[in-house]
Amino acid sequence: MTNDSKQYFSDLVAQFEEFLFSELKHFLHTGNHPEELYEPMYYALSQGGKRLRPCFAVAASRIFGKEKQCIWFTATALELFHNFTLIHDDVMDHSDMRHGAPSVVAKYGLSAAILSGDAMFALAFHLLTEAQKGLSPEVKSEVMQTFSQMSVAIMEGQQYDINFQSRNDTSLSDYIHMIRLKTAELLATALKMGALIGGATPQAADLLYQSGIQIGLPFQLRDDHLDVYGSTDVFGKPIGGDIAENKQTWLLLSAKEKSAALSDKALEKALTCNNREEKIERVKAIYDQFHLADEIDAEIATYTHQALLLLGEVERISPVDKEALAALKDLYNRLASRAF
Ligand code: IPE
Ligand code: IPE
Ligand code: MG
Ligand code: MG
Ligand code: MG
Repeated sequence: MTNDSKQYFSDLVAQFEEFLFSELKHFLHTGNHPEELYEPMYYALSQGGKRLRPCFAVAASRIFGKEKQCIWFTATALELFHNFTLIHDDVMDHSDMRHGAPSVVAKYGLSAAILSGDAMFALAFHLLTEAQKGLSPEVKSEVMQTFSQMSVAIMEGQQYDINFQSRNDTSLSDYIHMIRLKTAELLATALKMGALIGGATPQAADLLYQSGIQIGLPFQLRDDHLDVYGSTDVFGKPIGGDIAENKQTWLLLSAKEKSAALSDKALEKALTCNNREEKIERVKAIYDQFHLADEIDAEIATYTHQALLLLGEVERISPVDKEALAALKDLYNRLASRAF
């Protein structure tokens, strides 16, 4: 199935990107002014990325029914919204590289990053109103509510992420709550919106949502893992940024717990180091000493298993398109060991 599922999603991504760029043409590259606003938006969207939220939405809709045109508008809204959060995230995280190229803030400056991000957020809502044209009043209102609740949840998560950087009392459960908000909610919402548009019952749509939360948590764990152990060339982001920025990740919080149990002060000292490269190297050496790369992988596997069980439940309560469901399950498995 793995190869079939890879093909399934690479076809889906190609179809999505064709829709995305043709739809955005009116907004992004027909000499629209001011170009200082539109060029960064086009830049952000054309640098690549996994297009995971569109994949989730479209696959979820196919699980339940015949594909409707409005799913592509929904997928585009989700991807626009996601890229808006990335543009602002790079401002907040002082990150000058994304997708192996300068981030929007590094290339165009702060004002452009703020404004083009804001415009993408607004445009996402505009596209959702287009998507609604093909939906019943009940599904319409549920889809809008799901999307707007998720939007606020992301901001809450991002604020916790920033708050935790300057605190020393963050627990692992605070961290899980934070990543649920900043990362898992959007993935879960993409699945739920897709399911609703595909004609799922509220119970089946909720199962998709729950499984999205369970796959969203290890998705962020893997991102944190790759931030330390990944390769910049493949990951497309600078390695060690989380350590340099004092991000309270699962790795750091676990290392803190283990150091405290041993009354070991090496981590505390390493964290006060003023030289960026040296700080990264010293903290990473402590992660290695505690075998945290393996431990985080075990944690990722546990969440992924839960997510797959929830996805399996869908078949018990609803008729499904077996190909779409199997492809999505396979994608969940591949995310657990992704390198970018
Ligand atoms: C990055 O998301 C932000 C996180 C939630 C970790 P992705 O890793 O899905 O980014 P793209 O879309 O592939 O660029
Ligand atoms: C980002 O988390 C989550 C959102 C963008 C909402 P990160 O800050 O870890 O994402 P990257 O690593 O910069 O993509
Ligand atoms: Mg961040
Ligand atoms: Mg970041
Ligand atoms: Mg990250």
